[in-house]
Parts: sequence; structure tokens; C-alpha cells
Amino acid sequence: MAIKIKTLSGYFHEYQKSVVNPEQFWSQQAEEFFWRKKCDTILDWNFEEPKIEWFKGGKLNLTENIFERQIFTRKDQVAIVWEPNNPDEDSISLTYSQLFDKVKQFSNVLLSLGVKKGDRVALYMPMIPELAIAMLACARIGAIHSIIFAGFSSTSLADRIIDAQAKIVIATDGGYRGAKTIPIKSIVDEALEKCDSVEKVIIKKRTGENISMKSGRDIWWDDICQGVSTENTAEILDAEDPLFILYTSGSTGKPKGVLHTTGGYMVYTSYTFRNVFQYSQGDVFFCSADIGWITGHSYIVYGPLLSGATTLMFEGIPTWPEAGRFWDIIEKHQVNQFYTAPTAIRALMALGNKFVEEKAMNSLKVLGTVGEPINEEAWHWYHDHVGKNKCPIVDTWWQTETGGILISPLAGITPTKPSYATLPLPGIQPVILDNEGKELQGNSVEGNLCIKFPWPGMARTLYGDHERFKLTYFSTFKNQYFTGDGVKRDEDGYYRILGRVDDVINVSGHRMGTAEVENAINEHPRVVESAVVGYPHEIKGQGIFAYVVCNDMDDTTSEKGIIKSIKIGVNNIIGPIAKPDKILIVSGLPKTRSGKIMRRLLRKIAANDFTNFGDISTLLDPGVVEEIIEKSKAK
Ligand code: WTA
Repeated sequence: MAIKIKTLSGYFHEYQKSVVNPEQFWSQQAEEFFWRKKCDTILDWNFEEPKIEWFKGGKLNLTENIFERQIFTRKDQVAIVWEPNNPDEDSISLTYSQLFDKVKQFSNVLLSLGVKKGDRVALYMPMIPELAIAMLACARIGAIHSIIFAGFSSTSLADRIIDAQAKIVIATDGGYRGAKTIPIKSIVDEALEKCDSVEKVIIKKRTGENISMKSGRDIWWDDICQGVSTENTAEILDAEDPLFILYTSGSTGKPKGVLHTTGGYMVYTSYTFRNVFQYSQGDVFFCSADIGWITGHSYIVYGPLLSGATTLMFEGIPTWPEAGRFWDIIEKHQVNQFYTAPTAIRALMALGNKFVEEKAMNSLKVLGTVGEPINEEAWHWYHDHVGKNKCPIVDTWWQTETGGILISPLAGITPTKPSYATLPLPGIQPVILDNEGKELQGNSVEGNLCIKFPWPGMARTLYGDHERFKLTYFSTFKNQYFTGDGVKRDEDGYYRILGRVDDVINVSGHRMGTAEVENAINEHPRVVESAVVGYPHEIKGQGIFAYVVCNDMDDTTSEKGIIKSIKIGVNNIIGPIAKPDKILIVSGLPKTRSGKIMRRLLRKIAANDFTNFGDISTLLDPGVVEEIIEKSKAK
């Protein structure tokens, strides 16, 4: 394994090197990997087009770096530990050599179906080992995987399949989630009514429920794998060939297909995994995210496996069959590093200390959080009760677009401060800009978080829409990657993420575009228009508050009925994660004379703050605000 940073002075030293000569720094990090051909250029970039190319001309296959490169030393080491939803079902361990065989076999299956380098394969699966096997098989043959979180509705699934023009869909019959089962296959069937690009659907049996298989299109995973060889030679790719597309929400309605490429992502996820979590050989790493999100891509599958780690995949939810499930898993599998979201911590904290205090969890060395700001109370509870005062917490800030962690403590090395992501990792050059784009130098400043220099793991484009990539990330501030987050740098130079400054909200660690939710609400036949904002929510971080204008409202209309049907509609169009927590039916929205909704007012009202509205003289009809306040107070 490559060298790890071990001390704080070591960190500062590496950081300095990475800023003075980034090309040399990253080319050294790339050296440990197996390249079929070394690259011609380490970095070619400009943030204007934008163009970002790392290790261009380098030839490799990422799965050769997981398997062929490590197989002699790790053959019998466990690669994936799988913990099922139901604790009474057996867990499964796959060694590197067993996983390798399964990946090679499934690669051959995909090839036999005519999947070629560059083709898109959509994965809509629960957290079972076959999800990891399928994604690695795509990487092995050079197909681009696009994983869609299995909580999304059929409409969301269809939108993503159509945008990616996926040729193959891989799914299951159903999925378990706590006490519930999800009818995965029937959601796929519904979605595919609209998707012409899909030729074959591969179904792994999980729940055994009754499903219909469309002849000529649908194939059982187990049938098609029958007798298929486990001999397979990896497709050799260029470092800049796409590895995957992952859709994420933006401030406009349509989800964005964030595209990551092979070489840079490989180097970056592996480097950050080892250093942030201080993973040591033999440790068991448990990231509780779903592989349908970037955290699962980078820190359940790619980062750990590229580092020869044992990674734990959990199918279920933290509160089933009871609220001690995470702690049971940590004890059962002797987990050493545990990585989860603040929402889960807050939810478990609210259920009391009983479950966590019953467990010693002596194996734990490091705790991590990701996805949203962690409040101090949750940080302390995590530290004191889960980590028993002996595990450093790494509060890791990053995004789907960044590929891997950018700002975070190194576990046990960087002194932590509750709710601070602390310092940038080597290779990351954050800057804070005011709204006019002026850089705020020095400490004790607050503004827009940008990154001024590329790093290998960053996204290269939005699939099929480079213009939107440029517009979203590189146009707000010239020659800067704009993250969309607000940030504070304190007197010690430590970074604290303050939350989104755009129209994106963060609900339970899930990114949600307010426009996306509005579009779904507006589909309701009675809705004229709507405005969605986030508001502080004790458990979820932010809740979804929707102001809705409906037609034909009279005294006899049941607001309750409309609100209920709007919620059902959003659930069907996007999925349960987008369902508004609160809906207020109003007769108009506060708009300026140029027609822009004054969202800052709506945010204040949603937060139950009815004071200091500032300048509202540009409003077309200030009376609307009075009505909204009255109605809101009455609720
Ligand atoms: C937020 C998740 C505060 C942030 C990896 C970012 C955080 C968005 C943190 C990306 C953190 C992520 N502290 N906020 N440690 N980590 N965020 O794309 O607003 O799902 O822009 O990636 O989550 O969410 P995404």
C-alpha cells in the first residue's frame, strides 16, 4: 500500500508540495497503480471551456487495479462483507478472489449481450453484492454505469435512463428496506414504457415476489450467468474515458448527469480513502450510505477496493428491527471505521442512549460524517456515545461533482473542532469569494466556496450537456469551480461549511433542487404555481416547505385533501425523499415587479421568523406577504 500521511507536520508538508507542484504531486500518487501505458500529459486544463484532463494518454483498467494488481497479496482477504436487511438472514463475505471471479463472469455476460465500451448501463438495485459486481463489470468492459437510487420513482428512473440512453438495465425483483418491500421490477416496467433505448433487462432475484418477465427483453441474472466463464481480459481504457454517470439535483428542474472519468477518479478516491480514514490493512470499513449516491460509489466500492480494504455493505436501515442496528453491525463485524450522515446520527440520538450504551464497540477507531453540516450537539453525541470519547471524527465535505472528499480532517492527525470540516486535503486549493467575485484573503472571513485549481477526482462534464456544466460551475466566478456552498474560514484557518447558497436544499443529506420539487407539485391539476424552500428541521437538517397557489379554491374546498394529493403526486413523480414536509396553500406568491419570487421572504416565514423582512418595496403586491404570514401563524 502506498504511503500514508502520519503526522500533522507530514500533512502540512504534503499540502505544500501539492500546491507548489500539483502535477508532480499527483503523478507520484498515480505511480502505485498499474498502468498499461504511462500518460503523455499529467494535467491539461482551463476553467474557461472548461477542460480538465488528468493522466491523458495513460492506458489502464480500473478493475485491474483492484484485482490483478492486488490479487497475489489479497486473494483470500475479504473484499466485501454484506449484511442483509434482516439480521436473521446470514451475512455474506466475498474474498478478493471470489469477487474477481464474479466480476469477470458478469463482464462476460454483458459482452455476450453486445454491451461495448462507451455504452451506458443503468443500475436500479437495492444494496446487495450484485450491485457492486455489476458496477465493477461495467468498469471492466469500459461500459459507463449510471446507478439510480432505488428510492426514486418510475418517472425519475425513466428520465435518467432516457438522458443516458442506457442500453441495459440491471435490477432486482424487489428490495427490502426495513419492514417494507419495494417492488423494484414493477417500477422498472413502468419506467421502460417510455424508454426506447433499453434492449435488455437483467433481474437478480432478491425477494422472490411475483413479477412479470417480458419475453425477449427480461433475463434472470442467475440464468444468464449459468456456465459462463470466469476468464476475462479487461478492456484497456484511456485515463480520460468515462467511468460513470451519476445524476444529481441542481437549481434548475432537470437532474444533471455528472460524469467521472477513469484514471483521475481512481487515484483520487483511493488516496483520500486511505488518508482521511487512516485505513490500515485488515481493518473493516463501514460506510452506511447507499451506492446510489456518490458516497457509496467512492467510499463503499471504489476507494476501499482500490486500497485493498474490507468494505461492509448494509442492505437495511438504521432503525430496523430496532434503533441499535448500526451498533449491532459494528459489533458483529468488528468494524474499525464507521462513516454515516448527520441525519442518521440525529435520528438515533433522538431515540435515546439505551441502544448505543448497551454496546462497547471496542473495535471502532474512526468515525466519519458526510452530506450535510453536522450540528454541535450531534457531533458531541457521536463522539461521546458512539465513539466512547476515543475516536476522532472526520467531518468530510465534498460533492457528487468532486468525486471524493475535499475538505476534512485526517483521522487522529488533524485536531478537530465540532462542526468544522477543518482543512483542505493535499491538492485542494479552496478560495472564498464575496458575491462580486473578490477573493477574501486571510482568516475570519465568510463567503462563497470555490476551488481554484483542478484535482484528479473532479467531474469532467455533465453528460451530453457541456454548456450546462460550464454554466453551473464555472460561470458564476471567472476561472473558479463554484461549489454552490457558503463557507466560513475561522481565526485558525479552519473551514466550516454553512450550507447551500443556491436553490438547492439538503434534506436528510440528500440534495434536492427546489425547482425539481416545484415542477412535480405543478403537475397537480389544481395547482397554478408553487415555490419551494428549505427550513430548519431537527432531524433532517432541512425540511421541504411548499407554498402553493391553487385554482378554484372556495370555502367548500378541502385544503387537507389537496395537500394530501399533492404529497402523493410528488412521491410518485420523484420519490418519497422529495415529499414536502409542510404545504401552505396561499392565494399568491410574493413576486417582484419583474416576476421573480422573493424567496428570502418565504425562507424566513418557513423558519417561523416573522421579523425584519428588509426591503420589500419592489414587491408587486406586498399584501400577499401579510396573508402568508397570517396563514402561516394560524397553522
Ligand atoms: C453538502 C455528498 C456540510 C454540501 C458527498 C454539498 C456538506 C452537498 C458536507 C453535496 C459536510 C456534503 N458538511 N455540508 N461535511 N458534505 N455537504 O452531491 O452542501 O450529495 O454541496 O454529495 O452536500 O451533496 P452530494
